[in-house]
Amino acid sequence: MQAQELLVALADGGMVSGASLAERAGVTRAAIWKQIEALRARGVPVESRGTAGYCLPWPVQLLGLPAIEAALSPGTRKQLGKLELHWEIDSTSSEIQRRLAELPDFSMVLAETQSAGRGRRGRRWLSPPGLNIYLSCLKRFDAGFAALSGLSLAVGVIVMRALTALGIDGAGLKWPNDVLSDGGKLAGILVELGGEYQGPCAAVIGVGLNVRLTSALHEQAGQPVNDLATLAAGIVPDRNRVAAALITALADGLAQFEREGFAAFVEEYAQHDLLRGKALSVQGALGPLQGTGAGVDTRGALLLQTDEGLRAIDSADVTVRRA
Ligand code: BTN
Repeated sequence: MQAQELLVALADGGMVSGASLAERAGVTRAAIWKQIEALRARGVPVESRGTAGYCLPWPVQLLGLPAIEAALSPGTRKQLGKLELHWEIDSTSSEIQRRLAELPDFSMVLAETQSAGRGRRGRRWLSPPGLNIYLSCLKRFDAGFAALSGLSLAVGVIVMRALTALGIDGAGLKWPNDVLSDGGKLAGILVELGGEYQGPCAAVIGVGLNVRLTSALHEQAGQPVNDLATLAAGIVPDRNRVAAALITALADGLAQFEREGFAAFVEEYAQHDLLRGKALSVQGALGPLQGTGAGVDTRGALLLQTDEGLRAIDSADVTVRRA
């Protein structure tokens, strides 16, 4: 029995004995135990109850392509390139990178779990199965890198639109594109660009959205994190609907970005901007700076009001200073 089948057997949250799992799969109980350990190592909180067997602390909803497709409008389905769901992959973004030449525009790759999920600045992105969403999208552009300024911020707005469509309030954007709620990271966005500087280029846009985190994940994340279940007062949203909402928002939003650029997103970004009016410390190419967040410009640069005037910052680490 593979880890995937085991998770399916445990998904409803009921107790399943090691003996019945072994019998069902035609393997030894030791083999089942090994797979239980493999699931735990992936971050799935499988509990042992002595001879009674194994269970999850709560039911887990697995992703399914038919359910995701059923939640998409006919227009979105037509607009998409390939839509793929993998059980396990190293990274959905790496998968798109490997198949860049072959995949059509607006292809989306999802995985139930990633063995080498990638975050910004070389960090890893913990990706246990059954809990969150890991999705990457391929968007091609004709007009070169210059037309792509602000893309990563626009994707932040796009994720906020998906949350709004799901009826989830209480999240905001920390420049450039961290989606936070109550100071914890709710979603991470990784935009990787390739191609010609002034010609055809491609963006691989990876989104990791926390639907339900375990206490172990809170500890391992290395930063404050939050999840949709907490924002929705403990009611865990349907993961297939969450995936469909993200796909829809990406398809619509990236088409809009291609037509209108970041200028079309500036106002909406401002509505979700968690740094505006806040005392900020900025560590970037210009050295350490202190000032007050003053929004973003039409290129997506962070505007910082300093004692020396308004500065536009293209790339930096930003922290909110405690009052
Ligand atoms: C960040 O560090 O904030 C960005 C995290 C991006 C994670 C997503 S999960 C789907 C896609 N595949 C990856 O390996 N990374 C991105």
